[in-house]
Amino acid sequence: MNKKIIALIVGVVVIVIGCIGVISFNKKLKFTNNTNITETKNSNESDNDNGTTNDKKVAIIYFSATGTTKRVAEYIKEATGGDLIEIIPKEKYTDSDLNYENNNSRATKEQNDSQARPEILNNINTDFYDIIYLGYPIWWGDVPKIILTFLDNHNLNDKSIILFCTSGSTDISGSLNTLKNYNKNVNWIDGKRFSSMTNQDEITNWVNKLNY
Ligand SMILES: Cc1cc2nc3c(=O)[nH]c(=O)nc-3n(C[C@H](O)[C@H](O)[C@H](O)COP(=O)(O)O)c2cc1C
Repeated sequence: MNKKIIALIVGVVVIVIGCIGVISFNKKLKFTNNTNITETKNSNESDNDNGTTNDKKVAIIYFSATGTTKRVAEYIKEATGGDLIEIIPKEKYTDSDLNYENNNSRATKEQNDSQARPEILNNINTDFYDIIYLGYPIWWGDVPKIILTFLDNHNLNDKSIILFCTSGSTDISGSLNTLKNYNKNVNWIDGKRFSSMTNQDEITNWVNKLNY
């Protein structure tokens, strides 16, 4: 009889221990699964962060009459991997057109005429891009009027535009003000003026500091 009671008690204890074991195993399993879900979610979030940066489409769009701004644009392409697009005037600027010592030269007259909008030869599609580096030479302290033609022809609202220019000595501020006032819906990023002596290292450092 005693033996039977002892066997019964042992049996009950074994069953209770078994139940406790199953319950705690289930709890552990649930916890482990939750941890995995959290980890998966975190890694997705970080993928998205990276994706956003990597997915931004960059274009370097420039006008250059004598090649200096073009060279800077090529350095920016090298630094960013963006698409290089030239703004080509319908009527090419000749040396005499560019003679700033002559009040009657084409460039001087255009810069003095607020309505001047020199035509652009090529079709440029900006829709695709999130970030546009826009480059030009300084003419009479300002943007060449063909850049205003470009702005008239494209909807750049809500895009980020990073300006760059080249000049003999004039800084970018005058042209930046003109552009900011011309279209207030664009996210103009204060850019930089480069001399004809610039090089790949200077441009790459500038691009890296911008962090776009
Ligand atoms: C019509 C004209 C006006 C210019 N005005 C200025 C100026 O106001 N300040 C300046 O520092 N350089 C001035 N320059 C020099 C150009 O900005 C400089 O040479 C520029 O790097 C040329 O770029 P590009 O070769 O891409 O055309 C002028 C050049 C031209 C043709």
